[in-house]
Amino acid sequence: MTTQRNASFTLDGNTVEFPVMGGTLGPDVVDIRAMYGKTGAFTFDPGFMSTASCKSSITYIDGDKGELLYRGYPIEQLAVNCDFMEVCYLLKNGELPNQDQYAEWNRKVKNHTMVHEQLTRFFQGFRRDAHPMAVLVGVVGALSAFYHDSLDINNPEHRLVAAIRLIAKMPTIVAMTYKYSMGQPFMYPRNDLSYSANFMHMMFGTPCEEYKPNPVLVRALDRILILHADHEQNASTSTVRLSGSSGANPFACIAAGIACLWGPAHGGANEACLKMLEEIGDVSRVGEYIKRAKDKNDSFKLMGFGHRVYKNYDPRAKLMRETCYEVLQELGLQNDRLFKLAMELERIALEDEYFVEKKLYPNVDFYSGIVQKALGIPTQMFTGIFALARTIGWIAQWHEMIGDPEQKIGRPRQLYTGATHRDVAPMAKR
Ligand code: SDX
Repeated sequence: MTTQRNASFTLDGNTVEFPVMGGTLGPDVVDIRAMYGKTGAFTFDPGFMSTASCKSSITYIDGDKGELLYRGYPIEQLAVNCDFMEVCYLLKNGELPNQDQYAEWNRKVKNHTMVHEQLTRFFQGFRRDAHPMAVLVGVVGALSAFYHDSLDINNPEHRLVAAIRLIAKMPTIVAMTYKYSMGQPFMYPRNDLSYSANFMHMMFGTPCEEYKPNPVLVRALDRILILHADHEQNASTSTVRLSGSSGANPFACIAAGIACLWGPAHGGANEACLKMLEEIGDVSRVGEYIKRAKDKNDSFKLMGFGHRVYKNYDPRAKLMRETCYEVLQELGLQNDRLFKLAMELERIALEDEYFVEKKLYPNVDFYSGIVQKALGIPTQMFTGIFALARTIGWIAQWHEMIGDPEQKIGRPRQLYTGATHRDVAPMAKR
C-alpha cells in the first residue's frame, strides 16, 4: 500500500495540498482536479507537456530508456513472437490469447471483413486523386450511418461488435481507397488468408488472376502493424478519447482520430519523410538539410526525427530498420538508394551536437516509409496504413475511457488574453 503523499502549492500566501498518486511504472502524478476550486487559478500546459490526461493500463513508454510495453510486454518480444491479431487481442483484452481464444478472435474478425455494398457508393463522390486520408475520414465516419442497431456505447455488446467491425473493416476500406485511386475494382476480402495477407490481397490483387502473397512481405507488413498499434496518449489517441468523452459513437471517434493522425507532425511524418529523402536525393546533400533542420529561421524539420516522449532511440525505429533490411534483402533491393541515404542521414544526425543536445533520434516514421515503398505501397497510402494499425489502439483506449468510473467529458479552460468588457456602438459611430 503506497503511503499518502501530498504536494503543497502556495499562491498569494494561500497554501493548498494536492494528493500525489503513483502508478505501477513511470512518473507519479499530482492530482490537481481541485486546483481551480481551491485557488481560483487554472494550470497552464499547452501541448500537455507535463499533463497526464487519464489513468491507463494499456501501453507504457519510458522515453529516457527507449522502452515500449503493450500490457507489460516489450514491443521487441511482441514484434518477433506474435502476429498482429494476437496483439489486437492483447491490447483489447489485456492478456495474450491461448489457442482457443485466438481461433475465436480470428473467427469473429473474419465474420465482419466485408463492408455494406452501399458503402462503396461513398467513394464515387471523391475525385480519384483525393488524398486517401480524406477518403478514410469520410468513409469511416459514414460507418455510423450503417449500424444504428449497435451505437449504444453503454451496451457492452454494442461496444464489442463496433470494435470488431472497425478492426475487421479498416483493411477493407484502406485497400478500397487505394483501388479507387487506381481506377481498379475493389477486391472482396478473402477469409482463408491471414489478416495481413488478406490486406495485401485486397491492395495488390485483381479479379484477373489469383494473388499469391509473399510470406516474407506479409510477415513484414504484420510487424509494421504491430509496431504502430498503440502508443499511450499521443495526439490522435487523445482526440479519440476526447471525442468519446462526449458520448459520440465509436465510428465517429475513430474518424476523428484518423483526421488528427493525418498531420505531418504525427502520423503523416512517414509520408513527409519519404518525400524529404526523395528531395535530398543524394548523400552529398545531407549536410545542407541537417543545416536547415538546425536553423531557427527555417521551418524545416528532419521528418522521422524527434519525439515528445522518446529522448532516446524509439524502439520501434530499430525494429522498423531491421524489417526494412529484411524486405529489401527479399526483393534484392539491399542497395536501395533511399535506404542507404536514410542510414547515412541517421548516422550524420546522431553524431551532430544539435541532435545530441536536443535528444533527437529517429522515430517510428523514419524507416517505415522506405519499407512500405519497397512493399509496393504508394507514399500517399503510408498514413492510411498507420491508421489501419492504430485502430486497435484507439479502440482499446476508447473502451478503457468508457469503462472508467471517473471519466467526465473533456472540457479544458484557457488563459483569456482577449478584449475586456466593452459595449457595442452603432455602426454609424464605429
Ligand atoms: C509520431 O506522440 C506519439 O507517440 C506519436 C507517435 C505515435 O506512435 O503515436 O510516436 C507517432 O507522431 C512520431 C513523430 C513523427 N513526427 C515527425 O517525425 C515530425 C518531425 N518531428 C518534430 O515535428 C517533433 O520532433 C515532434 C512533433 C515529433 C515532437 O515535437 P515536440 O515534442 O513538441 O518537441 P519540439 O518541437 O518542442 O522540439 C524540441 C526542440 C525544438 O527546438 P527548440 O525550440 O528547443 O530550440 O527540438 C527541435 C525543435 O525545433 N526539433 C527538431 C526536430 N524535432 C524537434 N529540429 C529538427 N528536426 C526535428 N525533427
